[in-house]
Amino acid sequence: MIKILLIGSGGREHAIAKAIARSPQAYQLYCFASHANPAIMALSHDYLIANLAELDAIIHYAKHQNIDFAIVGPEAPLALGIVDRLAEQDIPAIGPTQELAQIETSKGFARNLLQEYNIPGGPQYKNFKSLDGVKDMLQTLGEDYVIKADGLMGGKGVQVAGDHLHSHDEALSYCQELTAQKQRFVIEEKFYGEEFSLLSFTDGYHSMHMPTIKDHKRAFEDDQGPNTGGMGCYSCANHRLPFLTAEDIAAAAAINEACIEALKNKFSHAYKGILYGGFMKTAQGVRLIEYNARFGDPEAISLLELLETDFIAICQAIINDTLDKVDIVFSQQATVCKYIVPKGYPNNPVKQEIINISDVTNPEQLFFASVSKEQENIVLLGSRAIAVLGKGHDLATAEQQAQIQIEKISGPIFYRRDIGTSELLNKQVKQVTDTQKS
Ligand code: AMP
Ligand code: GLY
Repeated sequence: MIKILLIGSGGREHAIAKAIARSPQAYQLYCFASHANPAIMALSHDYLIANLAELDAIIHYAKHQNIDFAIVGPEAPLALGIVDRLAEQDIPAIGPTQELAQIETSKGFARNLLQEYNIPGGPQYKNFKSLDGVKDMLQTLGEDYVIKADGLMGGKGVQVAGDHLHSHDEALSYCQELTAQKQRFVIEEKFYGEEFSLLSFTDGYHSMHMPTIKDHKRAFEDDQGPNTGGMGCYSCANHRLPFLTAEDIAAAAAINEACIEALKNKFSHAYKGILYGGFMKTAQGVRLIEYNARFGDPEAISLLELLETDFIAICQAIINDTLDKVDIVFSQQATVCKYIVPKGYPNNPVKQEIINISDVTNPEQLFFASVSKEQENIVLLGSRAIAVLGKGHDLATAEQQAQIQIEKISGPIFYRRDIGTSELLNKQVKQVTDTQKS
């Protein structure tokens, strides 16, 4: 009997729990959760609600339950070093050590690593801890700059010229705000093009790339409004987004592989888990926007629902450095995943309101995130609530499948109707064509 510890309790972790449940191997799932997610609870042998930042509590639980290996869902415990702490107890984990997780937790570190190891795809950039040299850097970049707070900011630390900042004065006052908070930051060149993601499983020596996927971070339709954790995503049956070529995907894969190799060389130990590359296709080629040290949410929902290979076997191969021996297969289907979020999300979400999912005819398409069950009611907790996955032989079918069920959910909620539709896709293809011309 394999005892698996799952850390986290959002939509991504529901997808992980479901992938584990499909395994032919005998297992018991233990979940260390931040809230009572009814769907993950139903799939778990044991479920503990506590603070994910309390590493001592996680270690105590893992030892007490005789855990064989852990899967770390969100970034916060990685940033705090949960993988190092588990290793001290001889418990392997799917997720990098604190040093290696810097690829996500420090934007400056990620940029420096690429530069140090001559990995292509990086922008012109500079690290700052004071206002010294900020004006010069802005002068150099003109109107094409991005300012990034150098830490885990829940997607809120990045300010893009033209989008969030409209003059060098505004840029300077954002930098002042950051220095007042003793926050380091990076100023880098702004890229133009269309973003896409390539996630790779890796044991630190071998990498297996997943289908390319498109995330939609903006809260409102047509990619407007504030950034969120992700309002939805889509992927295509041939595993290639419509605006990408096979060469683009190969370029992104090569950057992920070089990064994994560089991390191993720099810190003398292997990166184990999932490396999530956020890229942009520009007129000059594929560029790296950021790295995450874990599965994306909701990307994990789309990707794991396509995965045909035993997920526990993949985890075992990551731990045993034998990922090259596993034939990882994703089904040749398209996916569209849309998140239901509370009204007012992300800045002022309603909470503790009831939503009605009783009309949903295929509950298998639902992935529970920031909701709990109180007296048989599903209650909003304030963050992304329920993701709805559609799958089909093409994108239009997948989008329709998601839409059919999402329309059956009611309450003080909203979602993005446009994710996965041909209108939005055509805009993305046009955006790439236009940037290639300019
Ligand atoms: P990050 O947290 O680094 O992914 O940044 C959040 C968002 O800011 C990204 O999804 C992009 O839309 C945008 N962004 C970040 N860096 C750049 C860049 N160098 N050029 C253009 N847009 C960027
Ligand atoms: N959906 C983007 C993320 O998980 O970071």
